[in-house]
Amino acid sequence: KKDVNILGIETSCDETAVAIVKNGREIISNVVASQIESHKRFGGVVPEIASRHHVEQITLVLEEAFNQAEMDWEDIDAIAVTEGPGLVGALLVGVNTAKALAFAKHKPLIGVHHIAGHIYANRLESEFTFPLLALIVSGGHTELVLMRAHGEYQVIGETRDDAAGEAYDKVARMLELPYPGGPHIDRLASEGEESIDFPRAWLEAGSYDFSFSGLKSAVINKIHNGKQRGEIIKKEDVAASFQASVVEVLTEKTLRAAEEYQVEQVIVAGGVAANQGLRKSLDQKFSGTGIPLKIPSLKLCTDNAAMIAAAGAISYERGNTAKLDLNANASLLL
Ligand code: KG4
Ligand code: ZN
Repeated sequence: KKDVNILGIETSCDETAVAIVKNGREIISNVVASQIESHKRFGGVVPEIASRHHVEQITLVLEEAFNQAEMDWEDIDAIAVTEGPGLVGALLVGVNTAKALAFAKHKPLIGVHHIAGHIYANRLESEFTFPLLALIVSGGHTELVLMRAHGEYQVIGETRDDAAGEAYDKVARMLELPYPGGPHIDRLASEGEESIDFPRAWLEAGSYDFSFSGLKSAVINKIHNGKQRGEIIKKEDVAASFQASVVEVLTEKTLRAAEEYQVEQVIVAGGVAANQGLRKSLDQKFSGTGIPLKIPSLKLCTDNAAMIAAAGAISYERGNTAKLDLNANASLLL
């Protein structure tokens, strides 16, 4: 059987990324240009700046992906691109690049959902076994997704307000930590005590949905009231107590869903999957269940294009290609 090489393109937020993946499983090259430095001083991603950076970077990143792979266009079977969700102006840069290349090089075009990409990042390290439960925790998403086969997604729970990563970034901002705040809170949490009793949003019995806005408000109130009373509240303790609440709810709901749906495998995806506290807690809880737990290496947790190529490979196999009128969709459903 002939090898299939997919070129992946990802520009949904603040990383300009291009990768080449062989047979859906093997990374040939994986180039990511981060814009974090440009957005830092604003405390978050500025959409207009993101789009402009993507335009500047995309051809350089594309060239680099081919150089690292030591490949040429004749080696590429199809082009996969993130069509949504994300910032529309940012997505459009990737979508238009992919369309222009597909047209000029006569290659099939494949639209990929960003979250499908995060899920398929795991397949670059180990094969899937179904049914599979995926916990997706990123700056824009907190979802529990059940998969019974490749390319089939059933969302069984999602956040009703903030995403987990968004909550991390907002709390970090209150603690005057740089953007993105997740890694900073993670580090501080390891140095602090879980001395503050923040709420856990379990929601209705049996629900796999999440909510982080109440927790965020509780953290704001704690810091605000503490300041007014002249109390000294250690940032480390706020971080440790906040993280304990997030991690406990994510772990418990994932465990409960895994048992209810009798899955063969649990995988974690998205930027917050890099969180040391979450990784430890999930490892501990799942080690006793016999259900294998897979968390991708740090580089594949955050946004990249190898994951988009990996998800695109499944669509390619099924002949699920897009036409040249493919458009960016900021709120695309999984
Ligand atoms: O998946 P990602 O790179 O981009 C989105 O698709 O959103 O996720 C970025 C998010 C940010 O909110 C960032 O603060 C969070 O992931 N994050 C973390 C950690 N590393 C990144 N959150 C908690 N702990 C971390 N170690
Ligand atoms: Zn992402």
